[in-house]
Amino acid sequence: MYTITTRQLAKTYSNGKEALKPLSLSLNTGEVFGFLGPNGAGKTTTVKLLTGVLIPSGGCCEIMGINPSTQPEKAHSLSGIVTEHAQMYDNLTGMENLIFYACAFGLEKKAGKTRAEALLKELALTEAKDQKLATYSTGMRQRLSLARALLHCPKVLFLDEPTSGLDPESAQNVNLMIHNLACEQGVTVFLCTHQLRYAQQICTRYGLIEQGTLLASGTLKELQDQVFPYKSLRICASSVPENLNFQERGHCEFETQIHKKEEIPDLVRKIVESGGNIFSVNLIEPSLEDIYFSLTTGRKEDATL
Ligand SMILES: Nc1ncnc2c1ncn2[C@@H]1O[C@H](COP(=O)(O)OP(=O)(O)O)[C@@H](O)[C@H]1O
Ligand SMILES: [Mg+2]
Repeated sequence: MYTITTRQLAKTYSNGKEALKPLSLSLNTGEVFGFLGPNGAGKTTTVKLLTGVLIPSGGCCEIMGINPSTQPEKAHSLSGIVTEHAQMYDNLTGMENLIFYACAFGLEKKAGKTRAEALLKELALTEAKDQKLATYSTGMRQRLSLARALLHCPKVLFLDEPTSGLDPESAQNVNLMIHNLACEQGVTVFLCTHQLRYAQQICTRYGLIEQGTLLASGTLKELQDQVFPYKSLRICASSVPENLNFQERGHCEFETQIHKKEEIPDLVRKIVESGGNIFSVNLIEPSLEDIYFSLTTGRKEDATL
């Protein structure tokens, strides 16, 4: 059974804005799905539909077999959500906020406190736990929001730009935590982000969206093959035979385009047989960034690298 499914899921807002055009996706348990796209692409709208905050105007979705628009309470008991702007109580401390939400999730006070302590420690907030939220930085709020989302040990985690306000070290910690939740506890993660490098470290699969339309989806390898059917092969050698169609890029540096890595041994053999000495061979695989900018209309300012 898939953990998250959408079938022709669509949303048009009351002002006529088609924020999400029919989207069909299926996520397996323990997947970290990176939902990537520029501002206004429809990512938050999708998360709101998946968490029952919005009602679809077309199609449907399910979280572990539950329809979030008809059974929101059940869907919420299975899901944790970190939204872009974490709203909690400024006049309560970090710990008080977590205890409040633990009660709202139905945890016993003692169990809620124990769970909150553990999460605060994991998210490096123990020192700040008795400070009022009003004194927290954006990054601290973001981490407290993640702690809140994890209080009831959800099976599915929706993260909308979870590392956006974080310094690189905190972002790296949050990233590692997300990875561990998926790998060790089988939590399915739906991650909306602009931060492509962090995404590439933890996501098992991606969906690239722009103007409400899913442009491509798949693993990095699948996207590389779909978007860049040719890859650059760079060889450092004393010489290469002319008939191999390499272009000279510098002193002893040659480059050609190949379709698949199986072509490399034959090229290497031909170079050696023609008397060339090979010093290095590098196949340049396109990164997630290369794929993203090739598919989206090149609006680099919208993405954080
Ligand atoms: N409540 C709303 N009413 C009308 N349009 C909206 C509303 N919320 C979002 N939009 C529009 O829908 C589009 C998708 O928005 P959103 O899902 O927030 O994108 P993203 O999270 O990818 O930046 C944008 O053009 C946005 O302006
Ligand atoms: Mg958004």
